[in-house]
Amino acid sequence: MRRLPPVLLEDGCPRDLISLIRTVLAACKEISFRVGQGALSGALGSTLDENIQGETQKKLDVLTNQLLKDILLESGYVKAIASEEEDYTVAGNPDANYIVAFDPLDGSSNTDINSLVGTIFSIMKAPEGSDPADQSIFMQPGKNQVAAGYVLYGPSTVLALTTGKGTRFFTLDKTHGTFLLTEDFAKVPEDTNEYAINASNQRHWQPAMQNYINDLIAGETGPRARNFNMRWIAAMVGDVHRVLCRGGIFTYPTDTKDPNKPNKLRLLYEANPMAMLIEQAGGIASTGTERIMDIQPDAIHQRVAVILGSKNEVETCLNYHK
Ligand code: F6P
Ligand code: MN
Repeated sequence: MRRLPPVLLEDGCPRDLISLIRTVLAACKEISFRVGQGALSGALGSTLDENIQGETQKKLDVLTNQLLKDILLESGYVKAIASEEEDYTVAGNPDANYIVAFDPLDGSSNTDINSLVGTIFSIMKAPEGSDPADQSIFMQPGKNQVAAGYVLYGPSTVLALTTGKGTRFFTLDKTHGTFLLTEDFAKVPEDTNEYAINASNQRHWQPAMQNYINDLIAGETGPRARNFNMRWIAAMVGDVHRVLCRGGIFTYPTDTKDPNKPNKLRLLYEANPMAMLIEQAGGIASTGTERIMDIQPDAIHQRVAVILGSKNEVETCLNYHK
């Protein structure tokens, strides 16, 4: 099986970008180990703090954020980082070429129940001559990403990675600490019978999503004339991995549950990297009205509606939004 660096070198991926990806993965290997320790790590449960977005921080959110932050900033490969768990961006090496946005531990409430969690990351070029302390260097649309991926800490630790030449899976060989290529060019099947949505929010959705989901639930007696199955892991990284492996539609739509928070998922370190992985595997990623990777961000922790997955099913869903 092939290691990650030669695979990326063959693609023509710049050496400093490969080094940066390997730096992210060095942190993820340590996170994989700590998450795998479960209760033995002494790090399950919550802290007494909230992040800037008003969410209670899990002990592992804080720990994994610190780990990624330290390793990335020490490496010298990053000009600045943005993290779900940092109020503002953090400046790095002024001479570095790249910026990294990350969700250190997506689905962190799953840690306490020994269920799926993962790290999501997005890498872009820093504008030339830019100031590492300037937050606006992150205000670039997702189509500018030069690499995106996640590491899923499940029964096995799997990296999904794209540098714009398809989406690949690598599996961590925990004996040797090496990510080995286990699937070249993952393809999301164009059709699916599976959908993922937090149905407890149904009464708060907009009419388009209400109508679409009602028609899926109606099954073979409804307008779709076939039955659909529902899955919800409550960690985007787990749901998107399933969609990449066997197809499906995953959505966290706009809702009116909390008027101050019409959308849940964050653009820079959740929606954008997942959108790139899905598009590179032949799927679609949209807000319902526009391509996720075309959105011009105006805030680090900006939230967006997300509808992504199998091409034909996402297109059907988007037709309800027209
Ligand atoms: O990071 C936000 C997140 O935890 C996603 O990973 C996940 O898809 C979603 O929120 C779960 O939302 P809910 O708590 O509504 O099920
Ligand atoms: Mn998350």
